[in-house]
Amino acid sequence: MTTHTGVTRVLSVVGARPNFMKVAPVARALAARGVEHIVVHTGQHYDPDMSGTFFRDLCLPLPDHNLEVGSASHARQTAEIMVRFEPVCAAAQPDIVLVYGDVNSTVAAALVAVKLGVPVGHVEAGLRSGDRSMPEEINRIVTDHVADSLFAPSRDAVQNLRAEGIPSERVHFVGNVMIDSLVTALPAARALDAPARHGVRKRSYTVVTLHRPANVDNRDTLRELLETLAIMSNGGPVLFPVHPRTKARIEELGLDVSVSRTLRLLDPIPYLEMLSLVAEAELVITDSGGLQEETTWLGVQCVTVRPNTERPITCTVGTNRLAPPRREAIIVAVREARARPAAVPPTVERWDGDAARRIAEVLCDENRFD
Ligand code: UD1
Repeated sequence: MTTHTGVTRVLSVVGARPNFMKVAPVARALAARGVEHIVVHTGQHYDPDMSGTFFRDLCLPLPDHNLEVGSASHARQTAEIMVRFEPVCAAAQPDIVLVYGDVNSTVAAALVAVKLGVPVGHVEAGLRSGDRSMPEEINRIVTDHVADSLFAPSRDAVQNLRAEGIPSERVHFVGNVMIDSLVTALPAARALDAPARHGVRKRSYTVVTLHRPANVDNRDTLRELLETLAIMSNGGPVLFPVHPRTKARIEELGLDVSVSRTLRLLDPIPYLEMLSLVAEAELVITDSGGLQEETTWLGVQCVTVRPNTERPITCTVGTNRLAPPRREAIIVAVREARARPAAVPPTVERWDGDAARRIAEVLCDENRFD
């Protein structure tokens, strides 16, 4: 295996919204070490409110390359990223390619780099839901098994990698880079006071995000979810920034979404504004991975509309619970979440704002984090 000790040039590949929060702290940590950092945006997400606003809010410089792949089927999108990334990677000759999370851009870039003989580092390695019907689970497994350096956010992730036979010297328990971004951004987010801007009282409203194919691509499931949110909104405002995928499904299916005055469907919200809303919410209902983690760190109660999660730690510390996309199950989970007294946010090991610094130490100094 190629070694990457003492790197001087790192190339990061990002493409979809949740990648941007993960690369931002790594970019800062590498800059602090004087490491050259090339950022390639695949263009998997391209709408300004799915991409550009995040670069702005996270103080990320514009990417060095944009591959502009856009939306397509999984095969076409993954293949297009590979075809367009290969010459960029070959020309840049980085010491290591870093990929983030579990989106199609992650696995595509990892495959290209490893076949060019460039070492691959996977940031957010080792998460497993055990649910192979989710494209992200396939992306995680493939990426982890071609990566040379695996940066795990939690102990359970380290254990998953061990159970799959990945040599322990490749695995670094660095913590959670998503939480690095949250820690950095929280003062600015709170100063925005997004609840006031949306005309809602702190701790009186629910924030919702739903975009997983299993929840939004089936007409009956999507209708049941919207009806459930409408029922819930009788108990307080429900703010629902709608992902473009979900918006398209609502429009395609001709669903009536004017179900309630207090269920507010909004355009996607920039990072700081979303963080400001989530930090002061009574409850979050989501199928996002990142929000499960953010609510845990903030001590905000969360209901995850999925039968499983690759982030079980969010459930074991008590801020998160799972519910299948059915009205009764969600209402029971919401009742349970609301019944929990507000408490001090839980402490999760190495979710401390220092994960990216640890990654830089692994890359530059060959430090180990077990
Ligand atoms: C992708 C990730 C998912 C992640 C999510 C975060 C994969 C397999 N899925 O899902 O893990 O949680 O991003 O948002 O990588 N679209 C736009 N504008 C955009 C981007 C997408 O309109 O800027 C629409 C297009 O109609 C597109 C659809 O959204 O077909 C889905 O986009 P895609 O990137 O394929 O998957 P996501 O559902 O966003």
